[in-house]
Amino acid sequence: LNYCVPRTRKEIFETLVKGLQRLEYRGYDSAGIAVDGDKNTTTDGINNNNIVLIKKNGKVKALDEELYKKDCMDLEMELDTHFGMAHTRWATHGEPSALNSHPHRSDKNNGNTHSPFIPTHNIHKLVTFILIPTLFQNSKGYEFESETDTEVIPKLIKYVYDNREREDLSFSTLVERVIQQRGSPLLIGVRSKYELSAEHIPIQYNTGELCSPLSDIITLQYGKAVEYYFASDASAIIEHTNKVIYLEDDDIAAVVGGKLSLHRLNRLAGEVPVRAIQTLQMELQEIMKGNFEAFMQKEIFEQPESVFNTMRGRICFDTNKVILGGLKDHLKEIKRCRRLIMIGCGTSFHAAVATRQALEELTELPVMVELASDFLDRNTPVFRDDVCFYISQSGETADTLMALRYCKDRGALTVGVTNTVGSSISRDTDCGVHINAGPEIGVASTKAYTSQFVALIMFGLMMSEDRISLQTRRLEIINGLRILPELIKKVLTLDKNIKSIADELYEQRSLLVMGRGFNYATCLEGALKIKEIPYMHSEGILAGELKHGPLALIDKHMPVIMIIMRDACYTKCQNALQQVTARSGRPIILCCQDDPEVSKNAYKTIELPQTVDCLQGILSVIPLQLLSFHLAVLRGYDVDCPRSLAKSVTVE
Ligand code: G6P
Repeated sequence: LNYCVPRTRKEIFETLVKGLQRLEYRGYDSAGIAVDGDKNTTTDGINNNNIVLIKKNGKVKALDEELYKKDCMDLEMELDTHFGMAHTRWATHGEPSALNSHPHRSDKNNGNTHSPFIPTHNIHKLVTFILIPTLFQNSKGYEFESETDTEVIPKLIKYVYDNREREDLSFSTLVERVIQQRGSPLLIGVRSKYELSAEHIPIQYNTGELCSPLSDIITLQYGKAVEYYFASDASAIIEHTNKVIYLEDDDIAAVVGGKLSLHRLNRLAGEVPVRAIQTLQMELQEIMKGNFEAFMQKEIFEQPESVFNTMRGRICFDTNKVILGGLKDHLKEIKRCRRLIMIGCGTSFHAAVATRQALEELTELPVMVELASDFLDRNTPVFRDDVCFYISQSGETADTLMALRYCKDRGALTVGVTNTVGSSISRDTDCGVHINAGPEIGVASTKAYTSQFVALIMFGLMMSEDRISLQTRRLEIINGLRILPELIKKVLTLDKNIKSIADELYEQRSLLVMGRGFNYATCLEGALKIKEIPYMHSEGILAGELKHGPLALIDKHMPVIMIIMRDACYTKCQNALQQVTARSGRPIILCCQDDPEVSKNAYKTIELPQTVDCLQGILSVIPLQLLSFHLAVLRGYDVDCPRSLAKSVTVE
């Protein structure tokens, strides 16, 4: 929203489109834009009472092209005061289409009526809104254009406005009345064409250090309150400013007549929230692809640095001390707990599987690993003396967040392990660790996994500091962490070798990934990558289960990757290898350097540097990340925008 900052419409489009492209990782099946139209232009079916709405199926690029086809708008016209709103969608209810994409409007081509446009994001629970369209439509006679639940919101706003009788409703009260109808959290932006009255509740700024966690939306004030940006992620606005205000749950921000005000939903009289203006640490280049073909590829190659950043300032290699600042005040309580429960989805769940054994060993506590959705489906018993970890790159995954609320209600201590400062999970947990991997844009998680892995191992090291019997083991792991970034660099030099394996495999339909012990999680994570990006059927198989079923799949045609490292499972893995080769299987083996015993039975080998057994999974997953990337490129798919997937899944 700009006030008295002259911008051409073209510049406004460019700002909105660039912002959307930065957010495309959240969903990209359709996109839409709403901007102020030219004064006095006639309604042409698209131009709705001077607010122009343009929506397009497909990626943001398709919308961008569409914008310049609208000859009803003068692109070079300079506008002093102007509004623009844009949204990119990941379909949940209603197929991907221009009609179903946001923003939505209260009225279709209706001459003099109020027409708020509402892009939404993060509707966690849709039930209330799904029920309303039919009831509402039948009883109030509103005509719905789309199949989305979101469209209920502008219609409801219009309904409240039409029925205000003589009440002088302010803009924010109008929106507030509608939000109060909701049965679940949502984040909305609303534009009103009407000049509604405003309550000016100035924001109280706190420019000092912010210690409280932050929320999804960023309210951004630029310069001297003349231009405002609102976004659901800092990456959309970072090139305009690095000064932001994060909104918290139930905050309502309103800009009326060029002034920004902030208040609380259901506020008490006189209550004015205090919000800090923060300076973003994010650098523009962190969210640019640079010379890489895709964000996923860039993020794979960033792992020596991202893993280092996870450890930076937290491990003292002279004293062998590990300090995670966000946990230290709760350490005593954690040590007294009944058990640790690690909860996550997708890749984040795999990070829990990968570190479970090391955590059991270092904490001497029972460790449960749980997929958030299943944990909730089972109504898992949780007790006050449990400690529950929520592992999530985004910190916004709905299932993980629901599991967090479930455990909080039962009095457990909650710990967040996220990559996103200010995310819902970091805000709602009692304490936590930021993995500091830097923004991850590629939908398929890569560097967040290895950083989650390292962060969880560091937690184990912190818990075992005073255990005399564990000191030799701790030292071994700490020394392993010290050289880990160097070893990751060595693994990355195998890229060409892995590309040649991809050349051989890319036309296959299936790929099995097998291993056990510390490397079982690599099998699950590798198989997930191979499903997500190249869309190949893939299964991560626990080698111990081979003879209980998967062996039936093995013949000379079935591509198999086996992970056989020199650890406690080495002999057992060799047995599995024998079983595979005895059925004419031709395994590609991920093994340690100089292992002739294993190599002689391999169709091909990928040789990795050896590290401490419980850290080996950090090295063994990287070749599979690279393989997934190359397979996807060879199969002609868009690496950063896999079909049907989104980076942050904010619906259950
Ligand atoms: C989605 C993403 C995955 C991710 C999972 C958990 O499915 O596509 O890459 O692993 O969510 O996300 P989180 O942000 O909670 O780690």
